[in-house]
Amino acid sequence: MVNVVSGGVRARVRCDLLGEGAFTDMQGGLFRPWLGPAYRATQAQLGDWMAEAGMGWRIDAAGNIVGRYEGTQPDAPALMIGSHIDSVHDGGRYDGMLGVVLGIEVVAQFHARGVRFPFAIEVVGFGDEEGSRFPVSMLTSQAVAGRAVVPDPALRDRTGLSVADAMAACGLDVARLCDAARAPGTVVAYLEAHIEQGPVLEAEDHALGVVSGIVAQKRFEIVIEGVAGHAGTMAMALRHDALAAAAEVILAVEHVARAGTGDLVATVGRMEVLPGATNVVPGRVVMSLDVRAALAQMRDDAADAIGRAVAGIARQRGVAARVTEMQALEASPCDAVLTHALAEAVEAVTGLPARRLSSGAGHDAMVLADLAPTAMLFLRCRGGVSHNPAEAVRDDDVEAALAAMVAFVGAMPYPPESDAAARREGRPA
Ligand code: GLV
Ligand code: MN
Ligand code: MN
Repeated sequence: MVNVVSGGVRARVRCDLLGEGAFTDMQGGLFRPWLGPAYRATQAQLGDWMAEAGMGWRIDAAGNIVGRYEGTQPDAPALMIGSHIDSVHDGGRYDGMLGVVLGIEVVAQFHARGVRFPFAIEVVGFGDEEGSRFPVSMLTSQAVAGRAVVPDPALRDRTGLSVADAMAACGLDVARLCDAARAPGTVVAYLEAHIEQGPVLEAEDHALGVVSGIVAQKRFEIVIEGVAGHAGTMAMALRHDALAAAAEVILAVEHVARAGTGDLVATVGRMEVLPGATNVVPGRVVMSLDVRAALAQMRDDAADAIGRAVAGIARQRGVAARVTEMQALEASPCDAVLTHALAEAVEAVTGLPARRLSSGAGHDAMVLADLAPTAMLFLRCRGGVSHNPAEAVRDDDVEAALAAMVAFVGAMPYPPESDAAARREGRPA
């Protein structure tokens, strides 16, 4: 008899364990950026758990951890189950990591029963979904999906290290990042479980949800150059204060997003003020901008409107401003056939019609869709809170998620019938 209950609790407990000690790079909270000391310690721990669950494991050329549970035939194509193991600064314990440890639990259950499939199961912990170390995200899942990723050598982390430096410190070569690419056909489907990071499931009393698709997003860097000066002697009328201009920019960002319709959102989440002293008028500000919407056109129109507002504010205040696009990720619908199968698994476990919802958060699944059909399972999280140490999940919800994933994998048609394949062959999906 399979002990489903203990697997879900164990997954939650493992996330908690990975939220402290050697698994975080900050005191009193969780920060696990790609390729840092905590990241490497976490991979070693995950590798032990993967081995216990009957998997071999390796670190790929992008620094992702890849566990593999062989199928009935060696070298069979794989169902990939994954999410990310990096975190934002002072983040929660379940964002990303829960999907990885749940993947291990899925395999552990089949291993305990001696069940193998005609496909392999791979559990992948991706490296930089958050972009919390460098100002771009998802380099490592893009590499796996076969995109030709060449990180800009000018990208630096907060300590001044480049992507090449950070990779070299882990024995990896930036020139070989794309060797992590999986050949088409070697991955038959991608399944990701993730906390919702929003309030809908809790408000409607659903333990689980099924994701219909992921919104489009863009990341920008805004640099405002004013004139630094003495805070005691520089007359107010003569100042070119970069931070005062930045304050207006933030309000303009908020205004544009609030005036938009639907699910348009825009955020300034990071700001560096230079020289950063009490008695100096700020001379330079570097800030981030994140813009998202289900429709790429709506995202782009909003970004253009923000760009015009920034130019107007700069003109009016006599400062220079530059807006640079750092990253664009397109909206990614999940595969209709796999999503239907996942909804059936959720309905079988919960006894309720599956709640379908779109994701405003980015996920590795939006990139993996280049490689294979994708499906995503959401778990309710307390208060919809995420990117925050207060992130919390219920054990019974995690049990339900595990049961739904096991049911999905157990029933997965092989070879899978994706809507993409159906479309290619001119049949209705
Ligand atoms: C990751 O959580 C993102 O949505 O940026
Ligand atoms: Mn995440
Ligand atoms: Mn996140």
